[in-house]
Amino acid sequence: MGRRAMSHPWNPPRFSVAPMMDRTDRHFRYLVRRISRRALLYTEMVTADAVVHGDRQRLLGFDPCEHPVVLQLGGSDPATMAAAARIGEAAGYDAININVGCPSDRVRSGRFGACLMLEPARVAEIYARMADAVSVPVTVKHRIGVDDRDRYEHMLEFVDTVASAGCRHFTIHARKAWLSGLSPKQNRTIPPLRHAEVHRLKRERPHLWIETNGGIQDVAQAAEHLAHVDAVMVGRAVYDDPLRFSSVDHVLFGDPMREVDLFHVLAEMDAYARRFAGSPEEVRRIARHVMGLVTGRRGARAFRRILGEHAFGPDPKPDAIGRAAFALARIGGRRAVVEAC
Ligand SMILES: Cc1cc2nc3c(=O)[nH]c(=O)nc-3n(C[C@H](O)[C@H](O)[C@H](O)COP(=O)(O)O)c2cc1C
Repeated sequence: MGRRAMSHPWNPPRFSVAPMMDRTDRHFRYLVRRISRRALLYTEMVTADAVVHGDRQRLLGFDPCEHPVVLQLGGSDPATMAAAARIGEAAGYDAININVGCPSDRVRSGRFGACLMLEPARVAEIYARMADAVSVPVTVKHRIGVDDRDRYEHMLEFVDTVASAGCRHFTIHARKAWLSGLSPKQNRTIPPLRHAEVHRLKRERPHLWIETNGGIQDVAQAAEHLAHVDAVMVGRAVYDDPLRFSSVDHVLFGDPMREVDLFHVLAEMDAYARRFAGSPEEVRRIARHVMGLVTGRRGARAFRRILGEHAFGPDPKPDAIGRAAFALARIGGRRAVVEAC
């Protein structure tokens, strides 16, 4: 019996925060954990080559509170992907995800990402090698189609081929990608969303764990999709306004209602940033991620201005978030809470 058959059952959360380059680094994942204890979190895509040859602590380090957390790998060489998966498992990740959705030129020239949708047998081989190498689950995130292979039947063929190698977990960005002609950003907005085909996939392959992704704006929309699929993944809406998702543990997981207070989250992020006092680049990144917390709130402009002044100059201040929170509280009349920052 191979290790694949022995791997532990995977019962993933029904809500996840999408992998996003330059966004879902460990600091943003830490922020999301202030808001949801249940969401499944993903790293940014890391190439398998980088994991094998690069600075592992920098690429793979994370805080224990981030569990459950998935490492997303990009690559097309089965042996390198398997080696990187093994390293990811040893680093403590709860699952390893294969990126079959990114359409950027750089990724395409490495023959991985969305262009792998044109090579289902290769993805099946990559999956099989990775799943043999680790005991944590190996999962796939892909598009609904690419270029002219964009019919439902093409997606079904892709999923069936990869499932025949043992894969049970598919996350589908419900819009096709054009491999040339559109930038990655355009490929996230211009092709229309086709969630109904992901719902159909779940109906026709009920034994597979199917997650839909793309354009979901809030918890209510996520709940609607959950009538049709096993899980939903949200990216940009969580990044742009994390607190919009503060009821996710209650509504989607049935946890008792817990108020998520903006100032409490800011205090926690302020304390977190101070842990990185000797690393100006980390302080800047943490500060950038908290910008979304004030989306649509009174005093947001002042908050962002003060945060910018203290965090984005040549000498970022580790207490920049606390200072900006103080200004926000004065505008919003929340002095007492901020003094706890
Ligand atoms: C800035 C940015 C970076 C992204 N990076 C990745 C990535 O590294 N890996 C990946 O699979 N998808 C990546 N995506 C795609 C998202 O995971 C997601 O599939 C897409 O944004 C659609 O979901 P949304 O409409 O909820 O944002 C990225 C998206 C954005 C906006």
